[in-house]
Amino acid sequence: MERMKIRCTLIIAALVFASSAPAIAAGGKTTPAIHNHWHFDGPFGTYDKDALQRGYQVYKTICASCHSMKQVSFRNLGQKGGPFYLAECPAGVPESVDCSNSNENPIVKAIAGEYQVEDGPDDTGDMFMRAGLPSDRFPNPFANDEQSRFANNGAFPPDLSLIVKARHHGPDYIYSLLTGFEDEPATVTVAPGQYYNPYFTGDMSQLLKPEFLNEEGHPLHGVEIPPGGVLAMAPPLFDGIIDYADEATPETVEQYARDVSEFLTWASEPKMEARKKLGIMSLAYLLILTGILYWSYKEIWSKADH
Ligand code: HEC
Repeated sequence: MERMKIRCTLIIAALVFASSAPAIAAGGKTTPAIHNHWHFDGPFGTYDKDALQRGYQVYKTICASCHSMKQVSFRNLGQKGGPFYLAECPAGVPESVDCSNSNENPIVKAIAGEYQVEDGPDDTGDMFMRAGLPSDRFPNPFANDEQSRFANNGAFPPDLSLIVKARHHGPDYIYSLLTGFEDEPATVTVAPGQYYNPYFTGDMSQLLKPEFLNEEGHPLHGVEIPPGGVLAMAPPLFDGIIDYADEATPETVEQYARDVSEFLTWASEPKMEARKKLGIMSLAYLLILTGILYWSYKEIWSKADH
């Protein structure tokens, strides 16, 4: 009986392994993400507020027409560490307003107010539209997932609120993906509505043209399988597509990609600065405590009778 059990377990294990093996063998290579130096790198790193503001502009102008950010509310933009946080009110704002409170922050109120959101029901039971408030979430570009798939050739544009956490090398990957679109290599056929990107995960061996395959459908000897994969997102950024208010900042795909990656990193971890601060304070506390303990140990034992 016991033997039978062990045999069964072994067979199941072998089956599980075998079923995963072809995927490992066929999986194409992906180009490693380009390594950037970010303002938020390291234990003392903070977000660059100007970059966050520009990144929000990129998201709002380009990405928001396909990608939702359901976890983010307008008021988050005005919280400490956020793109539009105000420690003090700008001139002209009445004294009774506390601009450091994100619900009262005039920039956040203006941003939210540009949108119309559905609310209700009112006293008569009807839903109605009203101007957005800081407490509202970012609006969804589509009414539901089905509509969003339908508009995107069957592919679903993922929610971007936590995308930086959901991908290896988050910000570097987003940057690389956005700047990395290329014409497809001559050895493959890419279907209409699909776009080649060496940083996307895929299996390009499936797309090799027939003349590069042997009778069994395997790549001919010496034929290289291009890295990366194809995705249903067309390159969303082009040089000059967004006007930055700050003349000194270049209006290039690379700059837009950097800024939106920083913005999406903030969205994934809006409390990063507070977390790092707490970490440093705890370390300082432990260091001081160690000093005191060492000193008291010396003190006590120096007086002890030997
Ligand atoms: C016209 C619609 C459209 C626009 C505009 C757009 N995307 Fe996408 N995006 C998509 C679709 C569709 C997918 C899913 C592609 C797939 O899985 O084949 C996608 C996928 C992604 C992914 C996921 C890639 C992965 O690893 O799975 C990221 C990240 C992304 N988009 C970021 C952005 C950013 C940032 C912008 C703005 C600069 C943007 N997108 C603009 C449609 C769009």
